[in-house]
Amino acid sequence: MSEAPVLITGGAGFIGSHLADALLAKGHSVRVLDNLSTGKPANLPLGDSRLELIEGDVADATLVRQVMAGCRAVAHLAAVASVQASVDDPVSTHQSNFVGTLNVCEAMRELGLKRVLFASSAAVYGNNGEGQAIDEDTAKAPLTPYAADKLASEHYLDFYRRQHGLEPALFRFFNIFGPRQDPSSPYSGVISIFTERAQAGLPISVFGDGEQTRDFVYVGDLVQLLVQALEAPRVAAGAVNVGLNRATSLNQLLADIRSVLGSLSAVSYAAARPGDIKHSRADNRRLLERFDFPEPTPMAVGLARLLGR
Ligand code: NAD
Ligand code: UD1
Repeated sequence: MSEAPVLITGGAGFIGSHLADALLAKGHSVRVLDNLSTGKPANLPLGDSRLELIEGDVADATLVRQVMAGCRAVAHLAAVASVQASVDDPVSTHQSNFVGTLNVCEAMRELGLKRVLFASSAAVYGNNGEGQAIDEDTAKAPLTPYAADKLASEHYLDFYRRQHGLEPALFRFFNIFGPRQDPSSPYSGVISIFTERAQAGLPISVFGDGEQTRDFVYVGDLVQLLVQALEAPRVAAGAVNVGLNRATSLNQLLADIRSVLGSLSAVSYAAARPGDIKHSRADNRRLLERFDFPEPTPMAVGLARLLGR
């Protein structure tokens, strides 16, 4: 008899599809619920009989309950991942980014499921961590509907933990990169945009002086952590930063892309984006205490995989 599947909401997207691969590789079955707004069926190994893809919306409570029935755990990754989209359309993104979480909590309570992973974000800290490594107790300053929905989702998951015995593993992802990150919007992840344009020989725009820094994590390292959190006998309360405590500037990133490709298209510098955070770096002590985080994939190796080198 095959094992009950893990439900991955948003499983046809960038991070979710890598998690699906990693779970299948470890012998688990996987059910994906995704509205295919940015995710793609082609990201998933649809020929694998242990994988099911259901097209639908996490904002639909009835559907979430139907799809979750028979599953043993949930990785809740479905969200509109673009911060700017939430600024442009707070009402519609709230359905995905908050109501979806509440629907997942309620369905888990009704069906008696316990373990759930949640993809929160460093965005919950706003500008409060500037210039230093941000630990989890840093004051929260959600500056956008995206960040507010992530923080509210964390609080609701914690309420369901205390009240209904859910076992949420709350992760605040810093900047994740790797293959399948969709570069198609100007607000897509910077590495996906820079590498796509560099490969096509198209000009690259840096917003600001390029000295802003981010704490980039390779997606393969992240999903090893997520699999561990699904399999662990228990998870402690409280959110956990997922970063390496390493700052990489955009100028350094461009130099690294040039090293992998051997050349780089023209780079121009434009005004910084309003509200853009200058420095973001995780204090990751809690991550390293609670989990067996893998040796991080070096940026050059991650970029080479992304660039197919
Ligand atoms: P992504 O856009 O590739 O994945 C999101 C997936 O959710 C897509 O497949 C999309 O089609 C699906 N989706 C969106 N709204 C939905 C809805 N209402 N119902 C069902 N499916 C829906 O982005 P990603 O980078 O893989 O992000 C995954 C999760 O991680 C998101 O929750 C995002 O907010 C979070 N996160 C990502 C990063 C990062 O650096 N990539 C950082 C912090 C947090
Ligand atoms: C990213 C995530 C967000 C997550 C946050 C957590 C994406 C799209 N955004 O936001 O979901 O919550 O990390 O840390 O995955 N830039 C350029 N040129 C470009 C594109 C971007 O210079 O063509 C700059 C931006 O102005 C910014 C930096 O690159 O200074 C990083 O931008 P981006 O990849 O969008 O990430 P975050 O805003 O950090």
